[in-house]
Amino acid sequence: MIAPSLMCVDLMNVQSGVRALEGCGTDFFHIDIMDNHFVPNITLGPDFARAVRKISAVPLDLHLMIERPENFLSQYGFLGPADILSVHYEATVHVQKALAGIRELGARSGVALNPATPFTVLEHILDDIEIVLVMAVNPGFSGQRLIPSALEKIRQLRLWLDERGKSGVLIETDGNVSFDHADRMRQAGTDLFIAGTSSVFSPGGSIAENYRKLKSIVERHRD
Ligand code: DX5
Ligand code: ZN
Repeated sequence: MIAPSLMCVDLMNVQSGVRALEGCGTDFFHIDIMDNHFVPNITLGPDFARAVRKISAVPLDLHLMIERPENFLSQYGFLGPADILSVHYEATVHVQKALAGIRELGARSGVALNPATPFTVLEHILDDIEIVLVMAVNPGFSGQRLIPSALEKIRQLRLWLDERGKSGVLIETDGNVSFDHADRMRQAGTDLFIAGTSSVFSPGGSIAENYRKLKSIVERHRD
């Protein structure tokens, strides 16, 4: 599955970007929400996500890069069972509480891991998690270069989840999902690809051309 990152859309023409992606049959819209504390940047917010929801039925994949996310979950009451809300493991000492809160909202719960965070920290909260979002760059900015160790992390995470009876937990990969890297990310076990400036929004082609190209890569069968 593919989730184009709306922080990479032309912000003066969001609606036409949304429509172009709908025309491609996109699986999700990925929306990055930052607080200038957890990461040194501010992009989109809950009002933007609600506005997208108003004009489109495509499921939302919200990536919260904010401190103490459990204190802000009431802003996401508009999410439904097809939507994903992910919080960062590093952003709170109460990550279980945050994940339980997301499920109480009625959305799918995701936990995001920075490049330096081992996935083994999830051992005792696996029952609270539906998606693990592996950051392949440090969060906060588009247009960064892949941290190569992310590929091995994804591969090991897939095995680790399967060994624990968690084959249904999806792996989402975010950061520098280029046409080249997507193939290796897919082979490592990525289920959901975040598409930004390296693929769907790259200047090499139109949104539709780029989307089709990425789709053909991520839909190849696993070797
Ligand atoms: C941050 C964002 C970025 C970005 C992905 O969480 O989701 O990672 O937009 O696109 P690239 O890395 O291709 O610019
Ligand atoms: Zn993101």
